[in-house]
Amino acid sequence: MANTKPLRVLVTGGAGFIGSALVRHLIGETEHVVLNVDALTYAGNLSSLESVEHDPRYRFAKADICDAAAMNRLIGEFRPDVITHLAAESHVDRSIDGPAAFVQTNLVGTFTLLAAALDYWRGLDAEAQKSFRFHHISTDEVFGSLSDEGFFTEETAYDPRSPYSASKAGSDHLVRAWHHTYGLPILLTNCSNNYGPYHFPEKLIPLMIIKCLAGEKLPVYGQGLNVRDWLYVEDHVRALTRVFEAGVPGESYIIGGRSERRNIDVVTTICETLDRVRPRADGKSYAEQISYVADRPGHDHRYAIDPSRLDRELGWRAQESFESGIEKTIRWYLDNEGWWRAIQSGAYAGERLGLKTA
Ligand SMILES: NC(=O)c1ccc[n+]([C@@H]2O[C@H](COP(=O)([O-])OP(=O)(O)OC[C@H]3O[C@@H](n4cnc5c(N)ncnc54)[C@H](O)[C@@H]3O)[C@@H](O)[C@H]2O)c1
Repeated sequence: MANTKPLRVLVTGGAGFIGSALVRHLIGETEHVVLNVDALTYAGNLSSLESVEHDPRYRFAKADICDAAAMNRLIGEFRPDVITHLAAESHVDRSIDGPAAFVQTNLVGTFTLLAAALDYWRGLDAEAQKSFRFHHISTDEVFGSLSDEGFFTEETAYDPRSPYSASKAGSDHLVRAWHHTYGLPILLTNCSNNYGPYHFPEKLIPLMIIKCLAGEKLPVYGQGLNVRDWLYVEDHVRALTRVFEAGVPGESYIIGGRSERRNIDVVTTICETLDRVRPRADGKSYAEQISYVADRPGHDHRYAIDPSRLDRELGWRAQESFESGIEKTIRWYLDNEGWWRAIQSGAYAGERLGLKTA
């Protein structure tokens, strides 16, 4: 696919954390035309898209991906060259407390979208069929947990453990099956933990920044020894764009920031950065607020990614180091208090999630 031609890109979940970063990138940095399809669950937030909402290349439609009639209508009207599918229930802790929504959106919703995409694709002429892409955005959590050694690659066997990762693994399998069975030109990406601006305040990094500023305890699960491989969200959306513009249909690519950190080191880096850019009034370090709490049930020990295929084949590499990305993120939360305070007063007030196992 020529990556200079403006494409019509239907983004599902474009009001979420990664989806909104992708939409801002596509409108701000490319010539592509975007239809954002999002049901606006607790995680969807149109205020993350204020900078692009009046752009003539951007349109929003409120719709549920489980609604087959709506998906058929929107795809038929918009006539996408690419569908980038990000809409999902995405929070592991919420999947422990209420897995049903994860099965519904991540499995039934992905199936519904695939069926609508296939129907549309079958009606295209041969050239348009060849260049069409259905790009599914997934997670490295489908690969299970690593010990202290080794990395996930595109060849790693699936071994999901939480209701969230099981539902994402299932949706990955559906997407591949639509390629092998019906010939739909699909692409799959599995990425590590994202962080950056507009991240919903229940996730580790924004939660810690906000609790630091509020003078509250910083709850670290277990001993804080679980390791995640952090990816700055703007690096991620550059990779996604590269994949749907130039990736090989039927293939999957894993995306990571080469920034493995233990959770306790993530929290310490946030404290040290804030000590520098917004020191506590009493002169003490934010690290004094760290407190250890009961671990997440079934907490995977380590995720780590070897993203060298994406580098080798499509020339993508993360631009941010963990330290530069954290500083940008912290400065964004300091400058955009109105955005996260509005969420805190509505959908989520910082309470502990994910302990309901019985
Ligand atoms: N955030 C991460 O670190 C991460 C890591 C790996 C993979 N992913 C994957 O990337 C994608 C986006 O993640 P995110 O962090 O931006 O999620 P998010 O929870 O911030 O956003 C999800 C979006 O999907 C929308 N949505 C949910 N159910 C819907 C439905 N039934 N119909 C239409 N829209 C619906 C929500 O309103 C929201 O705008 C997900 O598929 C997730 O599994 C995320």
